[in-house]
Amino acid sequence: MIIAVPKETAPGETRVALTPDGVRSLIAAGAKVLVESGAGVEAASSDSAYESAGATVFKGSDLSQAEVVLQVLGPADRSGELVERLRPGSVLISFVFPAANPGIVGGLARRGVTCFAMDLLPRISRAQSMDALSSMSTLAGYKSVVLAANALPKFFPMLMTAAGSIAPARVLVIGAGVAGLQAIATARRLGAVVEAFDVRPAVKEQVLSLGAKFIDLGLSAEEAEGAGGYAKEVSEDVHAHETRVIGERVLRADVVIATALVPGRRAPVLVTDEMVKTMAKSSVIVDLAAPTGGNCEATVPGEMVEKYGVTIIGPMDLARTMPVHASQMYSKNITAFTANLMKNGELAIDLEDQIIRESMLTNGGVITNDAARQLVEAGER
Ligand code: NAI
Repeated sequence: MIIAVPKETAPGETRVALTPDGVRSLIAAGAKVLVESGAGVEAASSDSAYESAGATVFKGSDLSQAEVVLQVLGPADRSGELVERLRPGSVLISFVFPAANPGIVGGLARRGVTCFAMDLLPRISRAQSMDALSSMSTLAGYKSVVLAANALPKFFPMLMTAAGSIAPARVLVIGAGVAGLQAIATARRLGAVVEAFDVRPAVKEQVLSLGAKFIDLGLSAEEAEGAGGYAKEVSEDVHAHETRVIGERVLRADVVIATALVPGRRAPVLVTDEMVKTMAKSSVIVDLAAPTGGNCEATVPGEMVEKYGVTIIGPMDLARTMPVHASQMYSKNITAFTANLMKNGELAIDLEDQIIRESMLTNGGVITNDAARQLVEAGER
């Protein structure tokens, strides 16, 4: 099986889908690996490191030999250039985010490419080693706190110095999924006093185990959880109760890290302008929900703005700011996924396998994922 790793073409992309370690693993599984020259340069993986790992480094845009192409976000370059380079009948494994890129999904189907979207992977235990969304959320959760600490004109830890005592920073984390839990852990490591909440009551134990206080909204799992254990959109009553609780807490927070997401929906608005007005001047909000509209009303996606003296940061993709570890983690995830698609060194697409079936986006000229197909059809009407 011939696997190719072309350079990423999405604007601003710094990651590479496969590191030299990933190359070694896939060669050991029986594949031949081709890597485009310079593909790993921003992730500190040089052409010579790929060659030492056993890959063939190629120049130019020809992907006609590739049976399987690995990318981080390649097809989402919007120019459709990568899609045109793929051989009909070949397999593409990449993040796609169909809701944000319906045109790309249609293009992949028309090209006759079999695409597996890393963002459609079921969050089941057997798929944990392949869970690239969790990897990227881990990076984002960590970096959100580093950004907040950098923007906050205060210390995070409590200090007892000859020049007096410094109170620890107070951090409020909204949403305790993968990113939120990593934000809690990072803020605790820096010495902040952290409180957090989530609509899913199941996260209480995880929050407490990280040394943070859990703000209990008193919701049941039925009220908060939808398909696959993900949060669902809460009722108006719950939303009103939740925003009241947040309103009381933001007053005392030096930093708010907002991470609340509901799959397939605009992010819930949980920090209103009125609340920002009540916050201490110089406090900081980092809104990881910015790409889907933001949890904070004042967030401007992709920008750092100031409102009522509060700094509001709306990063679009923090994982890209750490390409070395982002690529290392993604490479592990995509290597595990690709190995699961192989049998005796050859491609073996077993649709009985839940991981393979649910992550498949296009196959044989058809959009196989129902939600993505409906989106594309709605866009074409
Ligand atoms: P996500 O990125 O979709 O959402 C982030 C967090 O926001 C979630 O914890 C969600 O409950 C919370 N949220 C949504 N609406 C909210 C609101 N109105 N107020 C406060 N919080 C709100 O979530 P993520 O991190 O991708 O995890 C999603 C689910 O997948 C979770 O149930 C998690 O436990 C599960 N998961 C399972 C894994 C596995 O077993 N392999 C791996 C990773 C996640």
